[in-house]
Amino acid sequence: MCGIFGYTGAQNAVREVIAGLRALEYRGSDSAGVARISPEGALIVQKCAGRLDALEQALAAGGDVSSRCALGHTRWATHGAPTDANAHPHGTPRVQIVHNGIIENSAALRRRCLADGYVFASETDTEAAAFVIDRYYRILGDPILALRHAAAELRGSYAFGVLFADFPDRLFALRHESPLLIGRRREGNCVASDLAALGEGERRYHPLEQGEIACVTPDDVLFYPPDDGAPYHKDVLVAAETAAPIDKGGYPHHMRKEIADEPQALRDTLFPRIRDGLPDFSADGLDLDRLLASPRVWFVACGTACHAARLGASSFARLAGIDARAEVASEFRSACPMPDARDTVIAVSQSGETADTLAALRAARESGARTVAVVNTKGSAIARAADCAVCTEAGVEVAVPGTKTFVAQVALLRLLACALGRRAGRIGDDEAARLCRELSELPDRLTRLFDREEEIVALSRRFHRTCSGFTFFIGRGEDSIIAAESALKLKEIAYVPSESYPAGELKHGSIALIERGTPVVAVCSVPSQREKMLSSLREVASRGASVLTFAACDPDGALRAASEAVFCAADDPAPLTDPLLVAAALQLFAYHVARQKECEIDRPRNLAKSVTVE
Ligand code: M6R
Repeated sequence: MCGIFGYTGAQNAVREVIAGLRALEYRGSDSAGVARISPEGALIVQKCAGRLDALEQALAAGGDVSSRCALGHTRWATHGAPTDANAHPHGTPRVQIVHNGIIENSAALRRRCLADGYVFASETDTEAAAFVIDRYYRILGDPILALRHAAAELRGSYAFGVLFADFPDRLFALRHESPLLIGRRREGNCVASDLAALGEGERRYHPLEQGEIACVTPDDVLFYPPDDGAPYHKDVLVAAETAAPIDKGGYPHHMRKEIADEPQALRDTLFPRIRDGLPDFSADGLDLDRLLASPRVWFVACGTACHAARLGASSFARLAGIDARAEVASEFRSACPMPDARDTVIAVSQSGETADTLAALRAARESGARTVAVVNTKGSAIARAADCAVCTEAGVEVAVPGTKTFVAQVALLRLLACALGRRAGRIGDDEAARLCRELSELPDRLTRLFDREEEIVALSRRFHRTCSGFTFFIGRGEDSIIAAESALKLKEIAYVPSESYPAGELKHGSIALIERGTPVVAVCSVPSQREKMLSSLREVASRGASVLTFAACDPDGALRAASEAVFCAADDPAPLTDPLLVAAALQLFAYHVARQKECEIDRPRNLAKSVTVE
C-alpha cells in the first residue's frame, strides 16, 4: 500500500507534501517521511515511525524547512518493522526514493548492492531499489537512463517517486503495477498515489501508465516510454468531481457517519437505475444479453467487497438462474478451471485500487473473459482495466472498515440480478417491480433501524461485559455470508477474535470449542432457514453458549426462546433486503463494541483503507 506525494513549484513544497500525505494516510500510517531539496541544493531527509502528526512535529522542531521541491511518503509496512530506519524515503545523498509496492527480488539486489559497497540502513526492499537507481545514475549520469536500467532489474510491483540532488526542481516518477499519477496545479505540479491527494474541486492529472517514466518540473511534465523512445507530452484529464469534505458530520467517527450515510448511498446508487418502477442499466453501458449468455459469471473481490460479491453471486443464481460464483481475488489465479472467453468476470471493489482484485481482473482479461468492474471510485485502476464499469454512488468512504459501500454494492448487485432475471424471462414485470419497490424502501427502513441504535448499544455493552473470548458467528444460506462480514467487522475494529461458520457445519467439528459462556452471534434474516437455525441455536445453547441473535423478525418468539437476547431489525419482513438490514445492525453492533473497548475505529492497527500490494 503506502501513499506517495511529491510537489515541485512556487509553494512551500514541504507544506504541500504534508497536505497531500494527509489525504493518503488511509493507505497506511506506520511511518512517514519527506525528502526535500534545500535552497543550497542538498537532499535533506526527515522521517519517523508513527502517524503523519509525528513527522509534522519533527519538522516543526527542526526549524526552517522551506523548499520548492519535496517528496513524501506514508507507509504500510511490508519489509521490516515500522521503525524510523525503515521509514521512507531511502537512498543516498545523490538520490532519494519513496515506494509503494513490493520488490520481489530485493534479496538478490541487496546482495549485489552489498558487494558494490552500499551500506544498508534499513530492512526494506525499497532501499535496495534506491541503490540500484543510484548505481546506474553514478555510471550513466542521466536520470531517465538510470531509471530505465533499474526498472529492467526490478521484479514485483512498484510506484516510485524519485528526487535527484542534481535536478533540484524536478520530480521523477515511474510505476509497474502499483498506481501513480501526475497532478497539474496552477502553481506547480505533483506526483500522487491517487486523486484523493490532489485536493478538492476540479482535479487535473495524467495517469502514469505501466513502465512509463515522468519528469515533472514546476511548469511542465514530460513522459518517457520504457524503451529508448522519444519523450512526449500527454493530454490532461480532468476529474470534475469535488472530493467530499472529509468531516465526520457531527459523529465521533467516520465509521459511524458512514453507516448513517447508508440510506443516501442507496438512493444515489439505486434510484437512477430504476425507471418506471423497473430496473434499468442502460446508462451503464452494460450488455445484459452478453452477461446472460456467459456460461459462468465469476465475481472476484477481497474482504468486505468479497462478502458483497458472494451475496451478488447468490442473487444472480437465484433471480437470473446464472451459474455465478465468487472467488477471493488473491486465490483467483489458482482457480481451476479458469474462466474462458465466453465467461464474464465481475470485480467488486470500494477503492478500485486493490492489487489482488486488479491482478485477478487482468488475469481474467488474459483468459479472454469479458470483464465488468463494480467500484465506488470512478476512474480507479479497476474501473479503467475492465471492459465496463458500474459505479456505486456511496460517496467517499474514509474509515478503514467498509460499511456504506458494502450495503451499496449488495443492493446494486441485487438490482442487477433483478434486471437479468427479467431479461431472461425468469421474472415477470410485476415481480421485478415488486423487487424494485422493496429495494427502494430499504433507505427508509435503515433510517428507522438507526433510530433504535440505543437497543444495539445496550447489546454491545452486555457483550463487552460478558464476552469471554473467541466469538462464533453463525448463519445459513445468505446469512452465513452476513455472519462472515459481521465477524470481520468485529475483529478488524474491536480486535475480538471472531470466526464465522455455516451453522449446519458446526456439528462437524467446531462445536467442540463451545463451552459455558462461549459467545455465539446468530444471524437469522432468511425465513426459509429459520427452522434449521433454531435447531442450531438449541444445539449451541444446550452446550452452554451465550447466544445473541440478530434477526429480521421473530413473529412467534421462537428465536427469543432459544437465545439470551434477540435484536429484530425489521418491522415488516422483506426477504430481498432483510439481510442488509441485519448486516447494518451488526455494523452498529461492532462499532459500539469497539467504542466500549476504546479502539481506534477509523484506522485499526495494521490495516490500510486501500491495499495496493498483492
Ligand atoms: O477497496 P476494496 O473494496 O477493494 O477493498 C477490499 C478490502 O481490502 C476491504 O473490504 C477490507 O476488507 C476492509 N477493511 C473491510 O472492512
